[in-house]
Amino acid sequence: MRVELPDEAATGRLGTRLAQALTGGQASPLLVTLEGPLGAGKTSLVRAMLRELGHAGAVRSPTYTLLEPYEFDDLCVVHLDLYRLADPGELEYLGLEDHFASGHVLLVEWPDRAGTALPPADLTVSLDYAGSGRRGVLVPGSPGGQALLQRLGAGSDSTNH
Ligand SMILES: Nc1ncnc2c1ncn2[C@@H]1O[C@H](COP(=O)(O)OP(=O)(O)OP(=O)(O)O)[C@@H](O)[C@H]1O
Ligand SMILES: [Mg+2]
Repeated sequence: MRVELPDEAATGRLGTRLAQALTGGQASPLLVTLEGPLGAGKTSLVRAMLRELGHAGAVRSPTYTLLEPYEFDDLCVVHLDLYRLADPGELEYLGLEDHFASGHVLLVEWPDRAGTALPPADLTVSLDYAGSGRRGVLVPGSPGGQALLQRLGAGSDSTNH
């Protein structure tokens, strides 16, 4: 699925819709990778998702902490930014396995830094520059990711390809 994001508000709306498409009661963890160059809007998207889920406080980019968990009633969203991960082996010390649990959604910026230490993504969100705005391409990698995209697509203004 392809989404045109002409301005920052459009990135925010995509984040809102993604958050609404999440279900807390999912049996398996959901791994969403956020790909694209510096400044493509990955953290902006995560901020909008967390805001829609009810997080009122600040959302810091976990550039140094690498991992930041956000607890909601029936859902735990874990935001990772692996840009500064020196070695995939470092992931071991983050306690990531605790988050590969039911009701957990992992949002991972710079997943390539993890090499093969991360399992395949349920959903890959690729953001890139498009003129003064951005473009998003969402590709499911599992039935869970496919279901999420279907919920997202219902009543959307995006183009499916
Ligand atoms: N659709 C859009 N059109 C134009 N500007 C946008 C759009 N979405 C986000 N932005 C702006 O682009 C910048 C994106 O910054 P952000 O920190 O979200 O990028 P990032 O992909 O997380 O970068 P990094 O790889 O450094 O973590 C912000 O200044 C934001 O306001
Ligand atoms: Mg970022």
